[in-house]
Amino acid sequence: MALRAWMVALGCCMSWGITGVAFAATATAQVTVQVDRPGAVIHREIYGQFAEQLGRGIDEGIWVGEGSPIANVHGFRKDVVDALKAIHVPVIRWPGGCYADEYRWRDGIGPRAKRPVRANYSWGGEEHNAVGTHEFMDFAELVGAQAYLAANMGTGSPREMSDWLEYLTGDGQTDLARERRANGRAKPWKVAYLGIGNESWGCGGHMRGVYYADQYRQYATFARALGGQTLVKVASGANADDYAWTEAVMAGAAEQIDAFGVHYYTLPSGDWKHKGSAVAFGEDAWIATLKAALHIDELIARHSAIMDKYDPARRITLAVDEWGTWYDTEPGASALYQQNSLRDAMVAAVTLGIFHAHAERVRMANIAQMVNVLQAMILTDKGRMVLTPTYHVFDLYQVFQDATSLPAQVRADDYVHDGVRVPGLFATAARGTDGAVHVALVNPDPTRALRVALALPGWKAGKVSGRVLSAPKIDAINTFERPDAVKPVAFDGATVGSDGVVAVSMPAKAIVVLELR
Ligand code: AHR
Repeated sequence: MALRAWMVALGCCMSWGITGVAFAATATAQVTVQVDRPGAVIHREIYGQFAEQLGRGIDEGIWVGEGSPIANVHGFRKDVVDALKAIHVPVIRWPGGCYADEYRWRDGIGPRAKRPVRANYSWGGEEHNAVGTHEFMDFAELVGAQAYLAANMGTGSPREMSDWLEYLTGDGQTDLARERRANGRAKPWKVAYLGIGNESWGCGGHMRGVYYADQYRQYATFARALGGQTLVKVASGANADDYAWTEAVMAGAAEQIDAFGVHYYTLPSGDWKHKGSAVAFGEDAWIATLKAALHIDELIARHSAIMDKYDPARRITLAVDEWGTWYDTEPGASALYQQNSLRDAMVAAVTLGIFHAHAERVRMANIAQMVNVLQAMILTDKGRMVLTPTYHVFDLYQVFQDATSLPAQVRADDYVHDGVRVPGLFATAARGTDGAVHVALVNPDPTRALRVALALPGWKAGKVSGRVLSAPKIDAINTFERPDAVKPVAFDGATVGSDGVVAVSMPAKAIVVLELR
């Protein structure tokens, strides 16, 4: 059930002020959710995150050290840990990104004061290795997330990778297992996912697909976890629409691959040299960004189709292990730091809906990134922390973790601005693990409210409740001074009619998540 399949045009009506000037356009739309036709499970791992060793993403953003005046748990900011726990982050990818292919795991074990300082060739600055294997794995445990480690193929070796895994997972008396214990961790850790190379077509070594497939086979042979652990091995997938890469890697290594990554970033301009600003943008940039974000639907469909040729049973996960918005970094800001507005919330909401629609194949994803980097969940400034609009979408959408997807058809007029056209309403629905039916509706139009008739044939809801995320302006942001400018509030605009149809009054530029019981 791809995006295009659930978008069908329908006429709309406008309400006019008595002067004849439109004061609040309202259109109608219809959504049909087929509760009696459950689809694939939405794996909670699609709500995963990515934390790379760069800028203030980890140092300052997550890690402040045990001696910091900022409240911390074993050196990790308590406010950040608590906020992440609250949204049940299922999996965290670390230490990169591009940095993974220059990372030496031995730099990050043993006494912190003695750890080497390395240049970060990918992103600038220096890495002091305060957060190494023990710290990251402890952090993942604190948050309650599974660990997705990215192994170094670009400058490392199968030997280094295999030693790292033995150090992490060894439960016997090998030297590496004993070294881990001597460094303070008695029990082996569980490593859920292992990335083998990152963007190996680019920063990870500028390899060609055929060469990478052979390299992958070699590394995968020696990527073993001990103690009977199952390790999901993730191949470095394509850059956006590089279908030739997917073809070459699947043809050469499908049997050894458990998950295949795809990276896609949303740029308002589509131009890497002038991506566009994170703040103070107009409606042109708003709609261009949404349109660019929607392209991920086609990417997933086409990469999946290639995977289907080599893996018709869909054993291999398509892991969108980097996604999100990428704007121009403001002068003076730390590497890849950007603000996060209502527009980012829209991008997150429609992207997660697309993942739901492809739940059968997309079973893991990692938004880039967790704190202070790109489309972050959280921004920090010394002792202060702010939750971004994107965080609030991950909060609202928690109900979809491990839920069973339900087909949702939308009939709505497109939203058109200056010749650019996107669907006028997005819907995604699922039966939650709590038994309720959850429906998320996204109205991307900044000026047009929507009256939505939500039909659930064959099922009747007794009651409906919900929450809504919106703001007065499209570029509304949360700042350290006004941290709650964009945050979800209770939604009372939905009622169940005697015929079972739910009438929803959706504000403009809004994300509504309904719970039906
Ligand atoms: O997320 C930032 C960077 O984007 C990652 O390091 C890299 O994999 C991608 O190009």
